[in-house]
Amino acid sequence: MDRKCWGECIREDHESLDSQAGALKFVVDHPTGPRDRRVAVGLILRSFSPRLESHLWKEEQVFFPALRHLLGSNAGMLEILLNQHGQLREQLRRLTDLLEDPGQSWEAIAREGQCLVDLLEEHEEKEGRFLLEILEFSLQPEELMTLARQFRQAVHQSSEEAP
Ligand SMILES: [Fe+2]
Ligand SMILES: [Fe+2]
Repeated sequence: MDRKCWGECIREDHESLDSQAGALKFVVDHPTGPRDRRVAVGLILRSFSPRLESHLWKEEQVFFPALRHLLGSNAGMLEILLNQHGQLREQLRRLTDLLEDPGQSWEAIAREGQCLVDLLEEHEEKEGRFLLEILEFSLQPEELMTLARQFRQAVHQSSEEAP
């Protein structure tokens, strides 16, 4: 595996999440009828939620321990990334709960949906700059290959566990 393309697995995951976040943003920005727009957000979340959860889990299983090993347990950047994972999970839960409550306004759903899109964008930007670059410049090619393989296998395991 080429040193530059070891991170394709994580970038592919990010692109897939980006496209679903883009669909969510489109519905938020271009709402249709009062019922249709809620159904549209629900359909997007049905696929987006498990995919995002799987992505966060894989990073925490594979890349974050490697980063912790390199930077030490007090690594501020790692804490920031982990904290953002918590925020993403919380925001996903908040949006899902709002959608399931018929008493909630569309404005509240749209606001929280936009917040989820923004959080994901900010997080991926940080990961691109810190997580991938630190690993790429600190590890040997064979170590990067092992990480990429573990990340891909983690996809397989989590999809097998999915109902
Ligand atoms: Fe992440
Ligand atoms: Fe990520």
